[in-house]
Amino acid sequence: FQPKLMAGKRILITAGPTFEAIDPVRGITNLSSGKMGYAVARAAREAGAEVTLVSGPTALPTPHGVTRIDVQSAQQMMDAVNRAIDGQHIFIAVAAVADWRVANPSTQKVKKTDGEAAAKGPELQFEQNPDILATIAARTTLAGHPYCVGFAAESENLLEYGSAKRERKGIPLLVGNIGHHTFGQDDNTIVLFDEHGHTILPQAPKLTLARQLISEISKRTSKHSLF
Ligand code: C5P
Repeated sequence: FQPKLMAGKRILITAGPTFEAIDPVRGITNLSSGKMGYAVARAAREAGAEVTLVSGPTALPTPHGVTRIDVQSAQQMMDAVNRAIDGQHIFIAVAAVADWRVANPSTQKVKKTDGEAAAKGPELQFEQNPDILATIAARTTLAGHPYCVGFAAESENLLEYGSAKRERKGIPLLVGNIGHHTFGQDDNTIVLFDEHGHTILPQAPKLTLARQLISEISKRTSKHSLF
């Protein structure tokens, strides 16, 4: 009998895009489909973990046995993660979080006007969203902090940017998507960056890669303080 790799572990995952309101019916979002994050949640559950998935708006069904918390904005995602983080062994940030939100969203639908103002369009101001992953990675509690895994979608120089980003975020493992055409696709190619360097996981369906990732995380966390 082989015990499941993640039996007894609690894993918190973010997935999907965020949606930043401009007014009650409009907003700013991105092309993340949530497929990779949902695949990671499914793979973690299959490996025996207790999985909580904090998800931005997606059209995907909840993976079997996974607890899902729906949010829209980056701030709501941050709040949901803060509420759920205590007691988690692993935090995997897969969501494509908006870096900025509209600072002055309108409480009423913005109306079209005539003349010069209409031609110019409304003026939006932006303010920075919290970096959820960096916030959790920097958190220290008496119980230690969860093993944090980040994702990166770079359009160029992934190998260079990937290892720099891992260090900047203060995390032990960063997963890079090769190319930025992965949004919405079923396949992906990923690179794992850790303190030893990088490893490429060749093109495969997202669920296959997610299972490989969970097994890589399991290897690396067997030495982690919380385990
Ligand atoms: O800095 P960048 O956005 O490229 O970093 C991507 C990684 O950081 C992903 O793991 C993403 O989920 C996470 N992130 C986050 N909160 C943000 C921005 C990114 O958790 N505000």
